[in-house]
Amino acid sequence: MTFTNEFLFGGAIAANQCEGAYNEDGKGLSIQDLMPNGVRGPLTQQPEPYNLKLVGNDFYHRYKEDIQLLAGMNARVLRFSIAWSRIYPTGEEDQPNEKGLEFYNNVINELVTKGITPMVTLSHYETPLYLARKYDGWRSRELIDLFAKFAKTCFEHFGDRVKYWLTFNEINVTLLSPLLSAGVLTDKSQISMAERYQIAHHQLVASAKVTRIAHEYDSTLKVGCMVAASAKYPMTCNPDDVIEALHQQQELDYFVHVHCKGEYPYFSKRLYAEHGVQLDITEEDQAILKHTVDFISFSYYNSKTVAKDESQYQTSAGNILRGLRNPYVNYSEYDYPIDPQGLYYVLHYYYKQYELPLFVAENGMGHHDQVEYDDQGNPVINDDYRIDFTREHLKQVDRALKDGVDVFGYASWGIIDLVSAASAEIDKRYGFVYVDRQSDGSGTLNRYKKKSYDWYKKVIETNGAYL
Ligand code: BG6
Repeated sequence: MTFTNEFLFGGAIAANQCEGAYNEDGKGLSIQDLMPNGVRGPLTQQPEPYNLKLVGNDFYHRYKEDIQLLAGMNARVLRFSIAWSRIYPTGEEDQPNEKGLEFYNNVINELVTKGITPMVTLSHYETPLYLARKYDGWRSRELIDLFAKFAKTCFEHFGDRVKYWLTFNEINVTLLSPLLSAGVLTDKSQISMAERYQIAHHQLVASAKVTRIAHEYDSTLKVGCMVAASAKYPMTCNPDDVIEALHQQQELDYFVHVHCKGEYPYFSKRLYAEHGVQLDITEEDQAILKHTVDFISFSYYNSKTVAKDESQYQTSAGNILRGLRNPYVNYSEYDYPIDPQGLYYVLHYYYKQYELPLFVAENGMGHHDQVEYDDQGNPVINDDYRIDFTREHLKQVDRALKDGVDVFGYASWGIIDLVSAASAEIDKRYGFVYVDRQSDGSGTLNRYKKKSYDWYKKVIETNGAYL
């Protein structure tokens, strides 16, 4: 097997990082509208340009132009999220916001008309602020049914055209950042690991419930889980380090396992014992968890190197998954590891265990781009580093395909420049399309094709032969 005409080459974006229009057409606030500094806190309501997400890259008003650009690149899939608070402004209304439905209807129609497969994430780090304030987010079970109502509305309005659905973006991040991933406003220092597992349990039940609703609505809908994946490498062959890598891997596998097998894995015993977890799990929860996903999706940015005793090693930078400095891989401008083979490892790792189709829901490298000008004065962005990064990762996808792993798509993160999740800046760019907006809020918001745009176009046109 290798790349075929059906392989979903494309890109991924998230509502809160690109749409802007944070209070237009009846949209309610989401936690992101109060996170001007990303995950680095504090939570505060700041106007533009202090919170760049309020305008994002203006996708809300420019989606037609952006989808045209994606079509020009031959993109076959766009993974995007539906902002919960655009459909249910507080999360608790009985009726959805018609204007919100209209916006996503237009986006989906535009994609379908251009031959681009839509893939929707139902929750991408954008819990409605009202629910965060009233219930402390996913700390409360109340959110399960509220989320199910939102998801059902989405299936009923868009399920005729959207076949692929993801429930929670990077659901395992709830253990690391209860605010970002679960809308928990209480300071994370006050939320024990035991409680984080309970919060994650509410989301896992919600994920399974929504999967059930999707399949009841239309059995041909494909629902996937989504985790922040990384290959976990032991720093040395000291058994202590090897076991540490195994244990850290299991913390992530916990989430994939329950989505795929419908119950918690055997090693949850160890995790619960270590963290003092007394999971509040009802019989009804157990029955709901049985509704398993159709495919596994994940983000892959880099591998993580770990040791039992980390104090003797240097650490490397990273967004969420920071590990030790690995002397065998290269490092990005942001000092994040670049490890394409880690993607090959992850693909095999999950396929071996679950034999479910896999989708690379995010991959990319944040970088400052330099804008130069050609003889006619047109902006030129020579992002060879981005081409190299993407090429090497796609080669590993190809390698896994040839080995027999069933991967059906690859979405490059932030295919059109958008605001970063961790640091809420826009100068950390991922796109093949440049957006003229800077972290100080200046810029025209005009779009320009980077060098990588034409490169990716050829890669897709030739089904990877141009790699
Ligand atoms: C993933 C998130 O963790 O990483 C995205 O799903 C995020 O929302 C991406 O943007 C890249 O991280 P950052 O912080 O550089 O934007």
